[in-house]
Amino acid sequence: MSTEEIREKYLNFFKKNDHAEITPSPLVIDSDPTTLFTSSGMQQLVPYLKGEKHPKGKRLADSQPSLRLQDLEEVGDNRHTTFFEMLGNWSLGDYFKEEQLKWIWKFYTEELGISSERLHVSVFEGDGEVPKDTESFEIWKKIGVPENHIHFYDAKKNWWSRAGIPQEMPPGEIGGPDSEIFYEFEDIAHRPEFGSFCHPNCDCGKFLEIGNSVFMQYQKTDDGKLIDLPQKNVDFGGGLERVSAALLNNPDIFAIDIFSGVIGKIEKETGRLYGSDISKDVSYRVIADHLRAAVNLLAEGVIPGNKLHGYVLRRLVRRAMFHFHLLGSGISGSAVSHIAEEYRKYYPNVDKNWQFIDENLTAEATRFEAALKRGLAKLTRAVSEGVEIDGKFAFDLYQTEGFPLELSMEILKQNGMNFTRDEKNSFEEEFEKHKSASRSASAGMFKGGLAEASEITTKLHTATHVLHAALRQVLGEHVGQKGSHITNERLRFDFSNQQKLSDKEIGQIEDLINLKIAEDLPVTFSVMSLPDAIASGAMHFFAEKYGQEVKVYTVGDPKGIWFSKEVCGGPHVTHTGEIGGVKIIKQEKIGSGIIRLYATIK
Ligand code: ALA
Repeated sequence: MSTEEIREKYLNFFKKNDHAEITPSPLVIDSDPTTLFTSSGMQQLVPYLKGEKHPKGKRLADSQPSLRLQDLEEVGDNRHTTFFEMLGNWSLGDYFKEEQLKWIWKFYTEELGISSERLHVSVFEGDGEVPKDTESFEIWKKIGVPENHIHFYDAKKNWWSRAGIPQEMPPGEIGGPDSEIFYEFEDIAHRPEFGSFCHPNCDCGKFLEIGNSVFMQYQKTDDGKLIDLPQKNVDFGGGLERVSAALLNNPDIFAIDIFSGVIGKIEKETGRLYGSDISKDVSYRVIADHLRAAVNLLAEGVIPGNKLHGYVLRRLVRRAMFHFHLLGSGISGSAVSHIAEEYRKYYPNVDKNWQFIDENLTAEATRFEAALKRGLAKLTRAVSEGVEIDGKFAFDLYQTEGFPLELSMEILKQNGMNFTRDEKNSFEEEFEKHKSASRSASAGMFKGGLAEASEITTKLHTATHVLHAALRQVLGEHVGQKGSHITNERLRFDFSNQQKLSDKEIGQIEDLINLKIAEDLPVTFSVMSLPDAIASGAMHFFAEKYGQEVKVYTVGDPKGIWFSKEVCGGPHVTHTGEIGGVKIIKQEKIGSGIIRLYATIK
């Protein structure tokens, strides 16, 4: 069965079971300063998982192109990719465990015809806060899964949220216990270097995780507890490419149809066969994976550059080029593009935008190939002249030509020279120095190169008070703070209000904040008892614990006309003018009667 047929069967199966097909999100997210790319199907559904009504109903499905960069270093094994497609189905407060587990089992075993003997499932074993998921265990038994194919694991393996285990979830984040499905490759033996016994979550390669049903029913509060969401949801995700590999009974996902054309072209270009030398297989996989991610990013209009999305794209293209060198051959930019063109067959968006993709991919690859060639020439000249190639030399090559350490090491090895551990360490030392220098350079990128991150958060903190007061003035006195969170990039503010704000209201609030900033009001504090603070009209957020004496921060004249008074620990700027300007960038409804705003400094 082709990968495309699997996708179609999946969508049809869930449509037959009353799911509406939704349009997948773009890969590129540019409205959220905390996330660059879509990395799972649920991302676009967060407000609906929290209770908002979705226009297409309570049962949804799609196949979501996703990019996971935490897997970048893992690419090269036989089952991780950066770009992948996630088959997804959701219940937004509709069906729950029983229907989900029955359907997904039916889909894998009946629709796809995977032998049930090859499948294992996992269930959450519980922790201090959330009980053991005996319900899913009983459902799996009822479905007919033998007990020795049902495995209990802790939160590291059987809990899903975008932030990981419950302890890592920030306030407001949603998650829940999950139940995964694994395919067992019969002919693959456990590799003892991975531990004394094999089980579905063992990393030896005998098992492949092919689907995850998340029972999304909890939300993290500001004080670190898990509370029930207003509804119980299902969030299923299954890696399409992995399902395809399981159907081929081949543990190598690069053996599936989508990759075969590209791998064939790499073989032609390098004159070597994939699989003929295990130590080189990594390079074929990295090239095939990174080019697929690159063409899909280019298809959305990303161009290689030094920041954010463009930087990720540049790294992907450069790592692919570098692996051609590890395979023993340089490659022209146009040949790289010719290889990547294979993906036009599988991704309509890549096909439609091919001219743009071709131009930009060729240009980036050509530039980097030239730099690699210059680095290579310097290195081989130095080797032939008997110059000592140490860590410092390799680092200079990296810095001037972007010539990667691994490539220097590989070339030295080909010349019968060994790069000792000390030399590698000295490269890494230089590299660390360089990294911390560029980190402070990029921290300085905020606001004309001067501001430190702590200054930003201080400004955002005062901006939060001004926002709170502006919300009450524009929307009414019912507005009260429900939560607040500040990073180096943005503030987030949760408050009570029945519905989302209109564009007009957002405009009025922004204008009022910026007016108060333009007035350059003084920000001062005085220390008093809590009853005195309340009597002075200061707002206070009772979810916080205050001592006997509290600090009251005032924006404006504390004894005359003031704009905001709040009980708070600080720190704050001394005048509102220091904030510069505030822009509201996003709003969400996160629960019944709670709205969340994100804002940045302009
Ligand atoms: N959201 C879940 C995942 O990404 C299904 O694995």
